[in-house]
This record gives sequence, structure tokens and C-alpha cells, in this order.
Amino acid sequence: MNDKKEMIIDVVNKLPSFPSSVVKIMNMNDEDANPRVIIDLIRLDPVLTLRILKLVNSAFFGLRHKITNIQQAYMLLGLENTRSLLLGIAAMGCLPDFELLGNINQNEFLNHSIATGVLAKLLSEKKKEKVYKSEILFTSGLLHDFGKIPLAFIDNDTYRMIIIESNKKGVSLIELENDYFGITHTQVGLLLAEKWNLPVEIKAAMGNHHLLSNEYSPDQSIECYDLTYYIHIANTICKKQKIGESGNSVFTDISDQSLEWFNVNTSELDEMLDNLKEELVSVDFFWK
Ligand SMILES: [Fe+2]
Ligand SMILES: [Fe+2]
Repeated sequence: MNDKKEMIIDVVNKLPSFPSSVVKIMNMNDEDANPRVIIDLIRLDPVLTLRILKLVNSAFFGLRHKITNIQQAYMLLGLENTRSLLLGIAAMGCLPDFELLGNINQNEFLNHSIATGVLAKLLSEKKKEKVYKSEILFTSGLLHDFGKIPLAFIDNDTYRMIIIESNKKGVSLIELENDYFGITHTQVGLLLAEKWNLPVEIKAAMGNHHLLSNEYSPDQSIECYDLTYYIHIANTICKKQKIGESGNSVFTDISDQSLEWFNVNTSELDEMLDNLKEELVSVDFFWK
């Protein structure tokens, strides 16, 4: 086995599990999700508490008054948003911290990830199909490229080099990941999803989001759910509109198969995007 591949798998295996408070909240049925219980569980974890407060007080929410405790934050966010944010914050907290992913700074990468999540959620509202809860859509978008983090952690110089090569030569980044690391960010994404026991649809979106753009994709054995279409479309739009940075800017066309599934043509989609732009602009401030 490629040495780097072995090291990456080892990194994933040794990652911490999600905090037990997050697991408990994620496993609650909507009926059982008593705000008081949730607030108490979050309060027990000072790191989670701090991160949530930082987030709700960020410019993204544009609040006039500072939120100083979890109870106020929960009232503002509601159950679904609190759950989405908890999962995202837990994933961030478990992965190695990084300043650069290849040549991309952390904020730019997170902007791409969050914008994909927000857009996936907005697209599902436009499609008027409530198949997925907004927390599932947001979280899948947020996590879809997190498989890149262990690759860059093991060898950031090589990751920087393949991002540059991919853009220069117009070659898919995922193919170069396979050549140089022996494993791709979608395959690592699958390992992360397994490690954290994420729902099967999120796992499939992490593993299949490049499959639909006819890029090199080694993960065709996993079932493709509708959620993967949302993530593919949202991811491609974010790359095309240059919202944040993910490293692979080569494939920026939404696949015909996905447009057909979404039941729009490209001009209808452009019109829709104009309306969404305002909402997406605020994403830039989300994690700062
Ligand atoms: Fe990706
Ligand atoms: Fe992406």
C-alpha cells in the first residue's frame, strides 16, 4: 500500500469520536428534543458553548445585541440549526487544525464548505421537496470536502503542488490525489463518515459528489441518493461563482443528469442564483 495512504487511514482511525453530548442531541427524535435538555447538554461542554456563542455573534447573523448564553442562542437558532451547527463544530473539533490546505487558507476553505451547505438548503427550498431536513442538507454541504483535511495534514507540500498542477493542466484534482496519495478526498470522506457514524445519505454525498460531474471517481459502488444531487449542484455553483476556495476549479459545469433531476435549465438556474446571491454573501462572515 502507498505509504501516504496508510498514514492517512491511520490519522482517520485515531481521530477522536464526537463529544457524547453531540451524539445524544443528534440521536434525539424531534418529539424528544426538549430545549431544556439540549441546552443543559451543551452547557456541560465549555468548548462547544464557546464556539456556538462565537458563531451566533458573528456578522453572519447581523445581531444588534450580543448573545451571552446558550439559552438565548438556542432561541435564536431553533432545533434544526442548533443540530446542524453542533455537527459541524464537532467535526471541526475532531479534525486536525490547519492554517493552510495546500495553498488555500482555512477561512476560504470553510467559506466553500459552508456556502455549499447553505446553498444545498436553499436549493431544496426552491425544489419544494421536503425530503431532507435542512440540518442534513447543511451538514452534508459543510462536510463534503472534509476528506481533504487528512491528506493535507499528512503532506501539505504535495497537496499544494497537486492543486497548482490541477489548475494549470486542467486535470481533475481528485485524479491527482489518487496518483500522489493513493487515496482521494471522497474516499477519506467515506472513512470519516464511518468513523463518526453519520447517516448513510451524508456518507454517500461525501463519497459521490464528484461522480455526477464525470470526474474520476473511485466510489461508484456506493448508492447515490438525491442528497448527492443537491451537494453536487451546490458545490459546482460555489466553485463557478468563486465563493470560497476548494482547490479544484476545473469542473464547473453542473451535469446534465443533475439539471434534469432538478428540473431546471441553465438560464432558469442563473435567474435563481441571482436571487440567492444576497443570502450567500453573508456566508463569508460565518466563521470569522
Ligand atoms: Fe470534493
Ligand atoms: Fe467542494
